[in-house]
Amino acid sequence: MFSTRIPAKAGCLLLIGFLGICVILLTKTFSYQGFSVDYKKNVFTKDGKTFDFVSGSLHYFRVPHQLWHDRLLKLRASGINVVSTYIPWNFHEPHPSQYNFVGDADLFKFIEIAQSLGLFVNIRPGPYICSEWDLGGIPYFVLGSKKDGVQMRTMDSRYLSHVECYFNELLPRLKPYLYENGGPIILVQVENEYGSYKACDFDYMTYITKLMRKHLGETAILYTADGWDMHHLICGPIHHSDVLTTINFGPNSDHESAFHRMRSFQGNGPLVNSEFYPGWLDHWGEPHQCKSSNLVRTEFTKMLKSAMGNVFVNFYMFFGGTNFAFYNGANMAFEPKYQPDPTSYDYDAPMTESGDTTQKYYAIRNAIKESRPHLIDEHLLSKVVNSTKQGYGRVKFHEILKYPGIKSLATKQLNNVPLFTFEELQQDYGFVLYEKTYSNFYHNAELEIPEPRDMVYVFADDKYIGKIYRSENKNLTLPSFTKLGLLVENMGRINYGPFLHDYKGIVGAIKLGQDDVSKGADWNIWSLPLNNTELAQFETIKIQPGPGSILRGEFTIHGKPADTWVKMSKFGKGVIFINGRNLGRYWPIKGPQKNLYVPSVFLNTGINEMVLLELVQMPSEKDLYVELVGYPDVGSCN
Ligand SMILES: *[C@@H]1O[C@H](CO)[C@@H](O)[C@H](O)[C@H]1NC(C)=O
Ligand SMILES: *[C@@H]1O[C@H](CO)[C@@H](O)[C@H](O)[C@H]1NC(C)=O
Ligand SMILES: *[C@@H]1O[C@H](CO)[C@@H](O)[C@H](O)[C@H]1NC(C)=O
Repeated sequence: MFSTRIPAKAGCLLLIGFLGICVILLTKTFSYQGFSVDYKKNVFTKDGKTFDFVSGSLHYFRVPHQLWHDRLLKLRASGINVVSTYIPWNFHEPHPSQYNFVGDADLFKFIEIAQSLGLFVNIRPGPYICSEWDLGGIPYFVLGSKKDGVQMRTMDSRYLSHVECYFNELLPRLKPYLYENGGPIILVQVENEYGSYKACDFDYMTYITKLMRKHLGETAILYTADGWDMHHLICGPIHHSDVLTTINFGPNSDHESAFHRMRSFQGNGPLVNSEFYPGWLDHWGEPHQCKSSNLVRTEFTKMLKSAMGNVFVNFYMFFGGTNFAFYNGANMAFEPKYQPDPTSYDYDAPMTESGDTTQKYYAIRNAIKESRPHLIDEHLLSKVVNSTKQGYGRVKFHEILKYPGIKSLATKQLNNVPLFTFEELQQDYGFVLYEKTYSNFYHNAELEIPEPRDMVYVFADDKYIGKIYRSENKNLTLPSFTKLGLLVENMGRINYGPFLHDYKGIVGAIKLGQDDVSKGADWNIWSLPLNNTELAQFETIKIQPGPGSILRGEFTIHGKPADTWVKMSKFGKGVIFINGRNLGRYWPIKGPQKNLYVPSVFLNTGINEMVLLELVQMPSEKDLYVELVGYPDVGSCN
């Protein structure tokens, strides 16, 4: 008896335990405390209930952190309840194993602000992000040198080891912010538009997915996003997996055709347009791109009321912002048509570069209010205000660091070396000066640089002669000289397409007449990332300066600073800094962008400093000024 009773009791306990587990499992199934995909009803669920959303893209790295709250509040006030952001690797790991998650790079703070405003978060950590951002967000050092031939976005182990190190840093920090852990992150994208990339390497996409799963767990909702061309849908999505397929298309595509095609690859699951374009990107030298508010509203409304079922939309971009400093990327459809992106990333988005609401903003809000009224929080709209703007007038330049004084800002100098590229110099952005001196005069030679990356400012005996640009196949005729100086500007690494492996500097031969002068180790090189303009030693301007010189001026602000814009007056092309902040490139003679945005938070009450490097056309002495105006000019719509 004794010996039989115990097993009976144990059996009973086991049974109770089993039932208990069953109850827990059942409760979990019926009200799963987390975010998930319902592949039967084709919706998302949150804590067991259907979750509806409209998402908007807003990149923390394109707006100073002091303004994150303002931009996110406006996003939420439009009825949008999810903010979507890429995470640019090169912003967080600027140099190998040097990680940056503070200030403008504190994306966790951004996520916390979003959550405090009732927003959910959709993150797109790449590692490749495209986004009109230098090298699609991949740091320069991953590219390595041309000789190495690293194949990015493939199973190349050299590339993957960099990805692993970065994800080891980034993803564990994001994990606490997943919805299931009490945070606002509900969606995580795997890679980006991989279907548009020539490699089409399934092993690679599986590898990235596994790496994300390893750090974020099995329940995080992973998805891919691709264009809806056949090729994109073959190579981008991770077929027959738990990674949700979503597609990208703008208001010129018919949403039913697009989703029908997607359905032939993924039979069920929610219909998500991960990039619905309410505007479009710009390139220097091309008209400003715009989308009509009516078209955007009409096509957006069609998706909200679709006969195909619930459609989930992410606006790309809802707020574009600015490519401050040297972070802009470039496109290249075919050689040599290099198309760098301007400093403004206004994107003709529903909110302007300075965060103002536009007609498109209200059109979208009205559409949401009509079809998804439960997403609108009425009292928020009264908190939405445009920024205050002011024109502070002319800023005259009185001081100068004459060319070749820029050499004094070099972070590295090498003598008697070959023509190293930026990447070989371990230099991310900015300029490199290559110089070569002859013992005798070199007479009337024609200079040919077949692969300038991207613009070469040519100096003969320190005098500016002209430029050779990547997009123009052009030679320069030089006067007699003994010293040849080639100041090369990296105008932004290509961020999309087959020419992604975009090394900077001078990558091929240089011919002077019949001589190939790129062979041999007889060049002197200066690395000029221009991240240290505060070290420049200026003197008073006495004679008319030439291109390649750096100018300095001051202006005073009384009271609280407001947003303002730099109108470049007679300057041609260069870079401008305010109070040590790199505002980005200016090139008004090319356009479409004419004025550069200066957020109020870059300015001081009292004295402010302006520093400018002009590269192609130094104005005459009376015109050595820029103007601070109270309005943007990103170009008029085409
Ligand atoms: C911001 O300015 C734009 C253009 O002037 C205007 O249409 C919009 O209503 C303003 N927004 C607010 C909140 O005042
Ligand atoms: C400036 O850029 C150089 C080269 O990219 C880098 O080595 C250096 O750390 C940077 N300095 C600062 C202050 O960011
Ligand atoms: C540039 O000069 C080279 C000779 O060095 C010549 O072969 C080539 O045709 C020239 N290119 C142009 C665009 O004039």
